[in-house]
Amino acid sequence: MIDEERAGALPAEGVPAERVLEEVRGLRALDRPTHGGRLFAYVYDPGVAGLDELAHAAYAASAHVNGLDPTAFPSLLAMENALVGAAARLLGGGPGTSAPDVVGSVTGGGTESLILAVKAARDARPELAEPRLVVPVSGHAAFAKAAHYLRVALDPVPVDPVTLRPTAADVAAAIRPETVLVVCSAPSYAHGVVDPVAEIAAVAAAAGVRCHVDACFGGWALPWLRRLGAPVPPFDFAVDGVTSISVDLHKYAYAPKGVSVLLHREPALRAPQYFAYADWPGYTMINSVIASTRSGGPIAAAYATLRHLGEDGYLRLAALTREAVAGLADAVRRVDGLRLMAEPESTVVCFTGTDPGLDLFVLVDELTARGWHTQPQLSYADLPASVHLTVTAAVAPRVAEFGPALADAVAAARAAGPVQLPPELLALAGSLTPEALTPDLIAGLAAGLGIGGGPGPLPDRMAAVNTLLNAAPIRLRERLLVEFVALLQRPTW
Ligand SMILES: Cc1ncc(COP(=O)(O)O)c(C=O)c1O
Repeated sequence: MIDEERAGALPAEGVPAERVLEEVRGLRALDRPTHGGRLFAYVYDPGVAGLDELAHAAYAASAHVNGLDPTAFPSLLAMENALVGAAARLLGGGPGTSAPDVVGSVTGGGTESLILAVKAARDARPELAEPRLVVPVSGHAAFAKAAHYLRVALDPVPVDPVTLRPTAADVAAAIRPETVLVVCSAPSYAHGVVDPVAEIAAVAAAAGVRCHVDACFGGWALPWLRRLGAPVPPFDFAVDGVTSISVDLHKYAYAPKGVSVLLHREPALRAPQYFAYADWPGYTMINSVIASTRSGGPIAAAYATLRHLGEDGYLRLAALTREAVAGLADAVRRVDGLRLMAEPESTVVCFTGTDPGLDLFVLVDELTARGWHTQPQLSYADLPASVHLTVTAAVAPRVAEFGPALADAVAAARAAGPVQLPPELLALAGSLTPEALTPDLIAGLAAGLGIGGGPGPLPDRMAAVNTLLNAAPIRLRERLLVEFVALLQRPTW
């Protein structure tokens, strides 16, 4: 926790630089480890010596440069264009391909890329009073956010509980005259499976609708895995009917946070993405992305990262990642009571439990206690709760240690037994409507679960929180999460 002396961000008298840095480093020690190959979500670590230092130096060189006006800062324009070109080339576009006129934008992240893909599609059809978006339920939550922000109706398409993919027939059935965009994932975040992009793009094209491939997660991994011999199905601009693709550089391109690329097959498709405004007395504003002022730091850091690693570097890192994925999947297969949700086909290992005596949420806590940070996923429709592992190159040297740790954690989770929430609490979670939640009820629940009350913002063990959320219907889950996080987001004075 922050001590008394440094609690305020604005002290009456400035604090010497060295001490401030110590404070920041002290705070950072509270975090999960971003390096070392034991954190399987949130961060993407190549484990390449010197890469951080390079990215940080490039970031620092451009941190104060403003992406608001590319004419004032041509350095940023040059680096953005180079990043877009590299992403396009990797994803089947550019000179000599079937998509020679690809254009794109650098955004601040995957969510921003997806919101802009939806905005471009919506604004290309201004005649529609109620535009609609077709998204497989395995599509990233950011599409729902885009639909919400942009007032576009969402038409979810179920996924097969075995393949974890939507079928093109179900997508076709969901397309209506008001549909502005159909989306698919390459791969999905939750399970790491690649949707049948070619079939889905074909039904979208037949209906005259745009088709976006969300390759935010895997767009910078799948092409290298394919070159290494993995059976990666077609998912990029080589597929007819794919009109836009997003790929996050702050994921498998291993750039520091804050960069994604949104590509369009041709300039006319990108045109409605722009926002221009001259009807005020200040500077005329022209933005290709949501942010107006934005730091050049992430763009310069990504540029430096790509240039330094190069194709050979990414191939090497993909080989390490592939080896790590195979090793982790084997470790899961060796444990009684666990089952892979899908055979790994990208950089995700996702497993579920097959034995009621083994509580997955307790297992996640046991792994955390042993220094392995995995991501629990709640049950959804007919899909069981699962444990997600995003695998990066830095995991490779750790794989041999994971198997014994997993076996040990499973034994401990079995010995501890499943979480037993008071039956009245479980019944409440199952029956409460979001509207019935009162501030007192929320405060009581949060206190009972140890949220915001202990030495850290969250309890050491999250199994009880996850069990409660898992028992709640979707809308109540969302509302509880909002309330719990809002309890944590309070100013310190
Ligand atoms: C497939 C996919 N799309 C979109 C996103 C959103 O990206 P971001 O968190 O950078 O906004 C993610 C993030 O994990 C993702 O996996």
